Amino acid sequence: MRRPVMAGNWKMYKTPAETTAFFEKFRPLVENSEHCETVICPPFTDLAAAVDAVRGSRIQVGAQNIAWAKEGAFTGEISGAMIRAAGAAYAIVGHSERRQYFGETDETVFKRTLAALEAGLTPIVCVGERLDEREKGITKTVLVSQFTKGIADLTPEQFARIVIAYEPVWAIGTGKTATPEMAAEAHRMIRGQVWAKYGSEAVAAIRILYGGSVKPDNVKTLMAQTEIDGVLVGGASLDPVGFASIVNF
Ligand code: PGA
Repeated sequence: MRRPVMAGNWKMYKTPAETTAFFEKFRPLVENSEHCETVICPPFTDLAAAVDAVRGSRIQVGAQNIAWAKEGAFTGEISGAMIRAAGAAYAIVGHSERRQYFGETDETVFKRTLAALEAGLTPIVCVGERLDEREKGITKTVLVSQFTKGIADLTPEQFARIVIAYEPVWAIGTGKTATPEMAAEAHRMIRGQVWAKYGSEAVAAIRILYGGSVKPDNVKTLMAQTEIDGVLVGGASLDPVGFASIVNF
């Protein structure tokens, strides 16, 4: 049985005060949500407020990015040890916005994933095709390439500690969700890669989340797909009531 991960990615939204206000409303609404892991990934500057606000609850906190280096002259970067010391347990790696706007590549995704693992964090490694790639019919090629270059060099022990998020880029922030069947098909493609590289136990254990315009009203049909082990939610995770209803799908 794979325990679902219901994760919120706040992107570049909310101040520390707004973070505290979010959790005041959110926390009581998910108090009994033992069916899943609930994770909120706020901006770095909100990590302290978030960790403070979730103390004593089952909610966990994650970062949205992580440096591949341990420390050094890397202006603007935040290391795994720093994220860990802030009290976070997860780190999103390779989100499509990082790939699109900040030059993230499969190679840097791999290095950041290793850094997260070394720091004792659970990386949520994002993959997914762009619209032009889907229209060209090369979704599978893209997913295979992202897996091969960004993930497949992990050892089996390292692989056992990651979470994968499939996020079709054309569905992010657009209101266009992949149909549950489309998402499930992409998840099966990824599982096929996992099977070929890491074998059947890894296939049974790996959690693959879906992300891209997940909302309270479509989460149920997505989660009804046996291939989908949770969601990575952007816009709809900013509202405490809405995100609580997603967590409690
Ligand atoms: P969205 O974003 O839910 O706003 O589409 C998802 C994501 O980018 O993780």
